[in-house]
Amino acid sequence: MKKEAWGSRIGLILAMAGNAVGLGNFLRFPVQAVQNGGGAFILPYIICFLLMGIPLLFTEWSMGRFGGKLGNHSTPYILDSMSKKWYWKYIGVFGIFTNIAVVAYYTYIESWTFVYVVHSVIGTFTGMSKEAVSTFFDQYVQLSGSDFGIPLFPVIAYILVLGANVYILSTGLGGIEKVAKIGMPLLILFGIILAVRGWTMGSSFASEEFPDANAWDGINFLWTPQYSSLADPKVWLAAAGQIFFTLSVGMGSIQCYASYLKENEDIALNSVTAGFTNEFVEVILGSAIVIPIAAGFLGLDWVLENAGFGMAFQTMPYLFQQWGPLISAFAGVCWFGLLFFAGITSSLAMGTPWMGFMQDEFGWGKVKGAVSFGLVSLAMGLPTVLFYQYGYFDEYDYWGGTVSLVIFALLETILFTYIFGMKKGWAEITRGADIRIPTFYKWIMTYVTPVLLSIVFLGALITPAGNDWVAAFSNLFSGGGWPLDTSSLIAKITFADLEAQIIANPENAAALEEKKMYSGFARLQLLLLFLGICAIVWYSSVKRKKAIQ
Ligand code: TRP
Repeated sequence: MKKEAWGSRIGLILAMAGNAVGLGNFLRFPVQAVQNGGGAFILPYIICFLLMGIPLLFTEWSMGRFGGKLGNHSTPYILDSMSKKWYWKYIGVFGIFTNIAVVAYYTYIESWTFVYVVHSVIGTFTGMSKEAVSTFFDQYVQLSGSDFGIPLFPVIAYILVLGANVYILSTGLGGIEKVAKIGMPLLILFGIILAVRGWTMGSSFASEEFPDANAWDGINFLWTPQYSSLADPKVWLAAAGQIFFTLSVGMGSIQCYASYLKENEDIALNSVTAGFTNEFVEVILGSAIVIPIAAGFLGLDWVLENAGFGMAFQTMPYLFQQWGPLISAFAGVCWFGLLFFAGITSSLAMGTPWMGFMQDEFGWGKVKGAVSFGLVSLAMGLPTVLFYQYGYFDEYDYWGGTVSLVIFALLETILFTYIFGMKKGWAEITRGADIRIPTFYKWIMTYVTPVLLSIVFLGALITPAGNDWVAAFSNLFSGGGWPLDTSSLIAKITFADLEAQIIANPENAAALEEKKMYSGFARLQLLLLFLGICAIVWYSSVKRKKAIQ
């Protein structure tokens, strides 16, 4: 059989950039930046990009190409081929697990963007008040629109979008490349159109209610560096988390894409190109749309108070209306179309590790691989759709889309630099390279990246109360123990965060108890998924052993 490989260099770069450029760039980045002090966020963010993001890109690209040469296209056996110890293939389970946990809710958001493109075109939001546009979204996700107790329409839209992903995946790398070649340029075009609007609107849309509104306030807020944040661990944690999510590192999908590279195909230049494309889209386009436009209409104070995930769906369609019916339809198509393309080029990437694994180990073809991926994702995703308002979604995002990435990135870095060995690793990275990577990166990858990753992990694990590390240490040394913050990983595991909320808001106790119950179900489901993939990996290893005998 002919080995599967990328069709062209430009196709590879666009697919890899499409993998990285996603909803994270437009929905997550602006919110993280605003919540962490705007200009205070940018410096730690850039430092994390250079000291963790780039090294992890080098690591994952070369791990992938190395594994692919031996016929392994997903992380269980890519990791396995780099060490003699049996357990690495189970650590590699993260690289399939994360993708399915994330795709389950990611395609749900993708389905909203698609539905909102249609609503923009048919003018659903025309003449609606700000509250009405916002309620429209709430009703959609609360699924209160149907009489059956089952939210038919959102579920159908979700299944259709997931189905479109399955269909494209069933056409293989060629299909993914094609979508990236159409989607990425369109996305950048739409982004530039909206960003120009954000940069040029100034205070022309200030209203009676918000007389001080000025888009420039939003831009200045994001771009005036504040050096004091460099000492704030909370901002560093947020910046590191964003770098992971947006670059798709610690997830397994880059290794999978890279496993379809040819043996001597360049890694150095390609990975840096894809990484910088993602940063351009995130930092330049991602910061020039929602925040300035919202600040231009409603004022920076409003943005600071209301910054959140919902802004993109609850506020933007209303603001576009203020530009008149025609432009608003156009802006709506640009905005939600951009989100849709950003989303689909990433969700396709999430399907490939599962498909690669099933093909390698059990000879499953593309159709069987894609359909089975769709079914597993649907089983994981339906509850997030049905129980969205109980925080099912948030659990997936936290465990699958945040914690797993850091754990996996830390472990794979240890494997690559210390077990596989940096000497062999560096040779992998530089073989076939079209540019010379400065050799100090070898030093950074050996000493700086693993240490930073450990700090990020520990910082999240035992975040002290109020994020005050100095107070926490003095408390510890005076025998008072370690005061955990409710945002720490340990507090989440034990539900201490929800319990603290229940004590603080006794009037909401019933709703919070309900949330706790659903969160428990969500975690159980994630755990079963992880163990299920472990079982498949175990089965495949038995099969491999038999084949050798
Ligand atoms: N990087 C993407 C974004 O910014 C998300 C993403 C791509 C992802 N591939 C992934 C998340 C694999 C988890 C697993 O939106």
